[in-house]
Formats: sequence, structure tokens, C-alpha cells
Amino acid sequence: MKKILALMLAGCMALSMVACGGGSTEKEPTEEPKTEDSKEEVKPEDAAKDDADKVEAEVPAGGKIGVCIYKFDDNFMTTYRNALQTLLEEKGYEVTVVDGNNDQAKQTEQINTFITQGVDALIINPVMPSAMATTVAAVQSADIPTVIINREPTAADMAPFNRCVYVGCDAAQSGTFQGQLILETENKGDINGDGKVSYIMIQGDPENIDAKLRTEYSVKALEDAGVATEQLNLTRGDWDQNKGQEICANDLSQFGDKVEVVFCNNDAMALGALEAIKAAGREVGKDIYLVGVDALDAALDAVQAGTMTGTVLNDAQSQAEKAVSCMEELMNGKTYAEGEQSVYVDYVKVTSDNVKDFIK
Ligand code: GAL
Repeated sequence: MKKILALMLAGCMALSMVACGGGSTEKEPTEEPKTEDSKEEVKPEDAAKDDADKVEAEVPAGGKIGVCIYKFDDNFMTTYRNALQTLLEEKGYEVTVVDGNNDQAKQTEQINTFITQGVDALIINPVMPSAMATTVAAVQSADIPTVIINREPTAADMAPFNRCVYVGCDAAQSGTFQGQLILETENKGDINGDGKVSYIMIQGDPENIDAKLRTEYSVKALEDAGVATEQLNLTRGDWDQNKGQEICANDLSQFGDKVEVVFCNNDAMALGALEAIKAAGREVGKDIYLVGVDALDAALDAVQAGTMTGTVLNDAQSQAEKAVSCMEELMNGKTYAEGEQSVYVDYVKVTSDNVKDFIK
């Protein structure tokens, strides 16, 4: 019986590896899905007998969870997915995390594979939030509790399925905090004293509401405080450090000393921009200001060293904890009313004054 089960599992694993792109999963094939039923049949002392027994003995109690990440090659989402995986595994869930490679078609296929495998819940970091209406319809027809993370869909996209919730942050808040970081400098960002703050904006992927709202609200915070602004350039950097460096280098060579503030929608791009700032012979805190979002370790070090004006903590650990607790509530039968399907964790402003509190 156990051997038959093991063989069936091996078949499922082979299928899932093909469908999920194989090497993109964090799990080795030997760690792939095992059934819950099998766990009840096996006593620990039997586990050493043969390989099939070993597989069965490792089955955790909590159920099978599929986690879809938009792409593994993203600094912030790496911290987030590691926190998520650790939490889920500590709680005894059998977790499979897959890499969407920033390809919506691939992620859709991965979600469909998880549905076919009969996972107990899904956690999805969408490649394209605009594809979420289709995803929600798919998980609804299979009635799988689903937590969407990091890239917020519209309320209308989630509304049809009351066992679906978004866990993330209020992107407008992070933009407002970035603006406040500039307002808190000695000249409120107007380094050359010409009565306006001239800035460049290095934007994340504009499909993502975080990019849109951080761009909008960082500048709005200045204007709401009565500070005039001038946008010298806005360029899409897709959350990427190399692109951040390239864009900032181009802007500094084009606009020179006119650039007083470099707003980056995230820290990875800000760290790239910092390299360009140094290469151009400029000095953060003296003749230019630089802000990001996420509070990556390297950005915290830069804030402490004074080479970044500030950043905003995007709290991966708290978001992972909230995502898991919402998932468990959904699994236990909780439903979310239309219009109440977004749950937010607060951002925190990080400056040289409080940066020590965030360095691990
Ligand atoms: C943002 C984060 C970015 C990037 C993006 C991916 O919240 O600040 O660094 O990870 O999510 O969607």
C-alpha cells in the first residue's frame, strides 16, 4: 500500500515538475507533495524501512500550500518569500514555492497545476495584478482559500470570491513617508534655494500599484506642505538595481546640479542610484538627497552611513505573518465581505535617527 502510494506520488511529482518548470521550484523532487492520509498510516519506527516509508513519515500535519512568487530574482520578494516559507514550514505545512519568472502565462500554468494537485490553500504574488480576475475565477471554481500578496488587485477583481483576501501595505503611505523624509531635511529638499525641489523619479513596474502610488504620494507630500516641485525626469526602472544605476547616471549627466532629489520607488533602485551618484562626484546629504522603500539591509547600512537620506520599512516579516494568519482563517471557514478584502500592514519611516532599531 505504501509503495503504491509512493509510486502514485512519484507520478504526480513528475507531472508537477513538468508543469511548474521543474528547476524553478525551491523543493527537490524528494521533498515534493505527499498525501495527508499516508501520514496517519505510518509510525515513526517504520519510517527508516524504505524510501517510500521515509517520504510518508516526513508528511507534515497542516496541509499542502502552494506559493506563487512573481519572480525569485527580486531583492525584497526574496526576503518576503523566505520569511513565508520558514513560517509555513515551522507550522507543519507542506510548502511548494514556485518562481513565475515574471511571466504571467507561466504563473497561470503554475496556479492551475496547484489547483489540479488539490492544494489546501494558495498564496499568490501576482506577476500581473491585471490578470487577477481570471485567477480569482479559477480558484473560486476549485474553492481554494487564496491569499494574494504584495501586488494589490482591484476590489472588483476579488469581490466574486469571499474566500480570497489581499495582504499587503497601503502603497500611498510609503510614498507619503518618502516625501516626509525630504521635508525633514534642513532645506526641505531645496538645496540650491531656487524655491522649488527639482527631482528625478525612478519608478518600479508601473503595472504595480506600489509604483503608481509611491510616485504620486511622494511628490504630493511635498506639495501638500506648500513646497513647489519640478519633475526633471520619470523613468521606469522595474524595481531593478542595475536599471536604477543606469537611469540615475543618465539623468545626472543630463541634468547635472539641477537634480536635488532622487526618488526611487524601492531600495534596490536607490542602491543602484547611489553608485551613479558617487560616480558623478555628488554627495548625499550635501548636494543631493536619495530615498527608497523596503529597508533592505544594504539600504539600512547606507542610511546609517549617511549615503541614503532615508528609506521606508516594507515589513516582510509582518506581512508574511499576516498572510499566514489570514490563510489559516480562510482555511477555517472565514469569509471576507466585498470591499473588505484588503488587509494592510503599516510601513515605517527610517532615518538616521532610528535606523539602529532596524539593523539586525
Ligand atoms: C514592492 C517592493 C519592491 C518590489 C515590488 C515587487 O512592494 O517595494 O522592492 O519587491 O514590491 O512587486
